[in-house]
Amino acid sequence: TTVALAFSGGLDTTVCVPLLKEEYGYDEVIGVTVDVGQPAEEFEEAEETADALGVDTYVVDAKSEFADLCLDAVRANADYQGYPLGTALARPVIAQSILDVALEQGCDAVAHGCTGKGNDQLRFEAVWRASDLDVVAPVRELGLTRDWESEYAAEHDLPVEGGNGGDWSIDTNLWSRSVEGDALEDPNYVPPEDIYEWTDTPGDAETELVEITFEEGYPVAVDGSEMDPVTLVEHLNSVAGAHGVGRTDMMEDRMLGLKVRENYEHPAATALLTAHEALEGLVLTHEERQFKQQVDAQWSQKAYEGLVMAPLVDALEGFIASTQERVTGTVTLKFEGGQCRPVGRDSEYATYSESAASFDTETVDGIAQEDATGVAKYHGFQTRLANSAKAKQQEA
Ligand code: ARG
Ligand code: SIN
Repeated sequence: TTVALAFSGGLDTTVCVPLLKEEYGYDEVIGVTVDVGQPAEEFEEAEETADALGVDTYVVDAKSEFADLCLDAVRANADYQGYPLGTALARPVIAQSILDVALEQGCDAVAHGCTGKGNDQLRFEAVWRASDLDVVAPVRELGLTRDWESEYAAEHDLPVEGGNGGDWSIDTNLWSRSVEGDALEDPNYVPPEDIYEWTDTPGDAETELVEITFEEGYPVAVDGSEMDPVTLVEHLNSVAGAHGVGRTDMMEDRMLGLKVRENYEHPAATALLTAHEALEGLVLTHEERQFKQQVDAQWSQKAYEGLVMAPLVDALEGFIASTQERVTGTVTLKFEGGQCRPVGRDSEYATYSESAASFDTETVDGIAQEDATGVAKYHGFQTRLANSAKAKQQEA
C-alpha cells in the first residue's frame, strides 16, 4: 500500500514519513511538494530532506495557477481580519495537485502533517474527501506536539533544520509568509526582527514612487513594464519588502474557534491591494463600492475556509467581474517610512468630474451651486422632527 504525503521538508512532514510506515503500516510513502512560489532554497531543502529520508518525491509546478488565484484575490480586495489571505488561498491548489499525483500513481491514501488545532487540516481535507482515497493526518491522529516531534527526529536521526526543526512553524507561498508557534504563541511576546525574511526593517529605505497598471482589476505592469502574474508578484515582493511594507502581527480567529497569534509578511499583496482599492475608489460608483464590500467579505470568508471552489465563489465572481470591467488604469504608490499609500490614480473610466467637484467652477452640466439649496433644506428634515418630538417628550 502507498500513501502520498504533502511534503514540505519541515518538522511535521518529516516525522510523518517514518510514522506512516511504522504506525500506519504503509509500505511506501511518496512525498509531493507543490510549487506555489516558495523561495528556491525551500525546494532545495525539501529535496535534500527527502533524499536523506529515502522518499521519492514529486514536485508539481502550480505557481502560475496560484498566481492567477492571488490576482483574483486582488479583484476581491481579499482580506481576513486585516491580513491578505495567503496560506488559505494556496491550500486548495496544493491539495488538488497532491490528489492528482496520488491518483496517477495509484496510491491508496493521502496524508498531511497539519495539527488538529488549525485551519489547514480542514482546507486539505475539503478537497481530498471528494475522492475515495483514505485521508491520514498523523500529527492530529497521534496527538503529536512539536516538542515530541523534535525529540523523535533527534532520536531517529531525521534530517531536520538545526536538529530541532527550527523554532517556528512557517508556511510560505508567493502571496505570503506565515510564522507561528513556540515563543510567538505568547500574544505579548514581541517578535525578534529575525522572524522576518521578506521585509527589511520598516523606514530604512529611501522614499520611492511605484506605478501599477491595472486591466479589468488585474495588475499587469509595474512602472510601465508588463509582467506575467508570477513575475509581477515576485517583483513587488522585493520592491515593497525593501521598504518593510506588509507585516501583520495579529490575533486570528480560526475556523475551529481558537484564537491564535499569527505573524505574516506579504509585501506584494499589501501593495497590490492598496493600489487596487484606490483605483476602485476612482472608478466605481458609491453604491457599487458599498455592495462590493459585502461581496468581497463573502469571497474572503470562503477563501479563508479553503473553499474557493464553492459555487458561491463563482457567483460572487460574476458580480466582481462585472464591476472590474472598468477597473482599468494606473495607481501611483508612495513607499515612505515603512508605509505604502496611493498618491495618484488615473483611469479613462473614472466616475469623477473634476469640473463638477471643483470649487473653482460655477455651473457644470447645467447644474449650478445654488441648485443644491433645495437639497440642503431637506437634509436632516426627519432628524429635526424627531429631535423636537424628543424635546417635547422630555419637557412633559
Ligand atoms: N493560521 C493561518 C491561516 O490559517 C496560517 C497557518 C499557516 N501554517 C503554518 N504552519 N504556519 O491562514
Ligand atoms: C497547523 O495547525 O498545522 C498549522 C496552522 C493552521 O492550520 O492554521
